Amino acid sequence: MKEKFLVTGGSRLSGVVKVDGAKNSVLKLMAAALLAEGTTTLHNCPEILDVPLMAQVLVGLGCDVEIDGATVRIHTPAEVSPNADFEAVRQFRASVAVLGPLVARCHEARVALPGGDAIGSRPLDMHQTGLEKLGATTHIEHGAVVARADHLRGATIKLDFPSVGATENIITASVLAEGQTVLDNAAREPEIVDLCDMLCEMGARIEGAGTSTITIDGVDSLAPTEHTVVGDRIVAGTWAYAAAITRGDITVTGIAPRHLHLALSKLKLAGADVETYDNGFRVRMDTRPKAVDYQTLPFPGFPTDLQPMAIAISTIADGASVITENVFEARFRFVDEMQRLGADATVDGHHVVLRGVEQLSSTDVWSSDIRAGAGLVLAGLVADGVTTVHDVYHIDRGYPSFVEQLNALGANIERVQS
Ligand code: UD1
Repeated sequence: MKEKFLVTGGSRLSGVVKVDGAKNSVLKLMAAALLAEGTTTLHNCPEILDVPLMAQVLVGLGCDVEIDGATVRIHTPAEVSPNADFEAVRQFRASVAVLGPLVARCHEARVALPGGDAIGSRPLDMHQTGLEKLGATTHIEHGAVVARADHLRGATIKLDFPSVGATENIITASVLAEGQTVLDNAAREPEIVDLCDMLCEMGARIEGAGTSTITIDGVDSLAPTEHTVVGDRIVAGTWAYAAAITRGDITVTGIAPRHLHLALSKLKLAGADVETYDNGFRVRMDTRPKAVDYQTLPFPGFPTDLQPMAIAISTIADGASVITENVFEARFRFVDEMQRLGADATVDGHHVVLRGVEQLSSTDVWSSDIRAGAGLVLAGLVADGVTTVHDVYHIDRGYPSFVEQLNALGANIERVQS
């Protein structure tokens, strides 16, 4: 049954909120558990739809998975199936993270590809080229990526673009390869560091995670481990923008503020008062936000996943903002929905110009992906009247207890059947 949110605008959000582990880390860590026979335990896992979905993928490959609140235990057998071509895999993009571990463990893998994505095309060419450099053959067949390698050998690989997914699959394939792999122009996201930290706890030899050059010395085998997932910087950033857009005062815990450095700096430019602590931050805003320009870039740049929040705040900012999307080609599709709420937005290729209006005006809007959905909820918080956000299953894929947490901060949101 489809659900929708009824968002009554006008509340000022305040209070303390704790973020759980990152969606974009936990799914990769679950996939990495395939690399070692035995029980890998993950703590601080977010209770979002994608976690049981990834569990289904691992079960389909022969693992047993227990989800016990924020703890996920993955029991990996001595032999896992190389065939991840079934319905659960097609349902979400992150399932492609099993590719590297399967090639490493089984010397072959068949991983179904998800359908079209609302944020633009997401090819796997860099994943494939990376695996080929390690000695695999790869091709796309009947809607699945197929990779085979009798023997994986370390290699020097330079990515054309610091792709998060390609960096992860190359790392997870090369940890068990013979010899040394040097990955240049690697992604530097905190979730990559988290993955490498866990792999090192499992016995992998990896240096340079968090920099553009990662060196992996292959080992013969890995052992299971117990690991705590890094905090979700995108959820934390969403709370930061929720505070600023509603002229509120929110303290966020469970996150290293350096993982959100640029997003928090932008809020300061918009007029917010930002304090950072070891394990969190506080954002306060008393006035109408000033207009600020944004351009999305790989970490440590402004995250593309917070671009909808940047658009939400710019719709009501004092002045005009230019927002440039450099990571995904079609991530402005939801701007139409912002326009339905009264945003004055002009899209031109990968730029959008927003001239802030005093007040948005409530109506029905449709979320098209996780982050666009969250951005529409933030916009609804500052619209007059009740904004109905449809297709909220997208939001549920990334935001644990979103409605409950928003209401605890003083929002007025209801989840109802569509
Ligand atoms: C991950 C995140 C996503 C985030 C993105 C960028 C997960 C589950 N998702 O996605 O939330 O928005 O990083 O921070 O972790 N590309 C190619 N060829 C490839 C691989 C990528 O052209 O082989 C392109 C993509 O189409 C995109 C860009 O590179 O335009 C960045 O993609 P990538 O960094 O790989 O993102 P994901 O890992 O898919």
